[in-house]
Amino acid sequence: MANDTARFQAIIAHCKEYGFIFPSSEIYDGLSAVYDYGQYGSELKKNIRDYWWKSMTQLQDNIVGIDAAIFMHPTTWKASGHVDNFSDPMIDNKDSNKRYRVDHLIEAFADELEKAGKKDESSALLAELDRLTAASDFAGLKSLIETNRIKCAVSGTSNWTDIRQFNLMFSTKMGSVSGEDEAAEIYLRPETAQGIFVNFLNVQKTGRLKIPFGIAQVGKAFRNEIIARQFIFRMREFEQMEMQFFIRPGTEAEWYNHWKEARMNWHLSLGIPQEKYRFHDHVKLAHYAIAACDIEYEFPIGFKEVEGIHSRGDFDLTNHQTYSRKKLQYFDNEINQNYVPYVIETSIGLDRTILMVLSQAYTEEDLSTPEKADSRVVLKFPPALAPIKLAVFPLLKKDGLPEIAKELMQGCRGAFRCFYEEKDAIGKRYRRMDAIGTPFCVTIDHQTKEDQTVTIRYRDSMKQERVHIDQVKSIVENGIAL
Ligand code: GAP
Repeated sequence: MANDTARFQAIIAHCKEYGFIFPSSEIYDGLSAVYDYGQYGSELKKNIRDYWWKSMTQLQDNIVGIDAAIFMHPTTWKASGHVDNFSDPMIDNKDSNKRYRVDHLIEAFADELEKAGKKDESSALLAELDRLTAASDFAGLKSLIETNRIKCAVSGTSNWTDIRQFNLMFSTKMGSVSGEDEAAEIYLRPETAQGIFVNFLNVQKTGRLKIPFGIAQVGKAFRNEIIARQFIFRMREFEQMEMQFFIRPGTEAEWYNHWKEARMNWHLSLGIPQEKYRFHDHVKLAHYAIAACDIEYEFPIGFKEVEGIHSRGDFDLTNHQTYSRKKLQYFDNEINQNYVPYVIETSIGLDRTILMVLSQAYTEEDLSTPEKADSRVVLKFPPALAPIKLAVFPLLKKDGLPEIAKELMQGCRGAFRCFYEEKDAIGKRYRRMDAIGTPFCVTIDHQTKEDQTVTIRYRDSMKQERVHIDQVKSIVENGIAL
């Protein structure tokens, strides 16, 4: 593959061609930054979601899961700070009327500098961006854009407006909120976390949970992102997998480090090597955070955030207490004290994780021999995450081979997702399964009728071996354990 941009474009095209991800409402030319998951994409998404859920709830002593509604009382977002603070500095180009997020505009220019071999200039620019952002110095940021003569990609000019803040929440109207007559403005949640905070006492009391404990949730979130590009990396409707860990005040440094390490280990458990990840400490903290970092993965478009780990203090619970006038405290009988717990949050985007897993898995292989040019595209997913685990192929559509294949499939489908196909040459069928990342294919041929053996073919090595048909299920079950 020529370069990383070409690789990224190839992944996007592959996702569409093989039923992973489609632009939303494509027959109407799509909807910007909104995507639909197809038959294989939704299986991959479910497998990643289930893996996260299991690691964060079932395999933990003290974390439970909930499923809160997307709509919440509008005061939630006042208390959480999103109404007043959830905005990004934006700048418009006066000639094209195109709006840019200031940090993205400057970062893209820094990328160009780096690609042109000006690494020191690029680093200095990013350092200055961090410094001015941390100080909320909008005039300084504008002059940084002007002195570097950063241009609009559409108009090609540097004719910029002043920098202004834009709120990212989507709003709609609801007929009646808490008995009020007039239709009230409510928001589509921009993060799932607040559904956890408002249920903190419900869950703690009914679950008789003792601090430290966590509440996990997976669900949709919505943000009116101004810069909506880079495929499913930045969407307007996306899914988050979040966990709020409630702790005794004073223990936040210890738990912050604990979750940084635990979450990095989870990422490594996906089989992605350490060098593809890095931590990025936040310079400009979100309105709720006392410390925060990102886990970044090296996508074909560069190192970018996949997950955030945030030390949120008692910001959210205290504010909900103030706005709701309901106590959100915990009695800690070990120290005989009532307090508002502190919170460490882990927040990972499901769609970004999918893009990470796809980027890591996408492989173009040259299989040419001196006699024949050949190649394949294979998605080398961790087998546990693959949409289809086992493909079953009768060599021919006759001689009783389909019946044996269907019986094998019937015996396996309750345990994992299988796929049956009898059309085309076996080689073509294997390649189609490579393209969707199926780790195991089994072919039933005439020898199967004689000695009950089948050919099992492994996706990554393309190695083939004969095994007894009764062994197939356990080979796959062992192979898909993470
Ligand atoms: N509750 C904290 C919170 O929402 P965040 O850093 O704004 O923190 C957490 O978001 C994660 O959600 C990000 O690391 C990213 O993976 C994902 N995410 C955020 N905005 C997104 C978007 N527009 N499209 C896709 N994923 C997004």
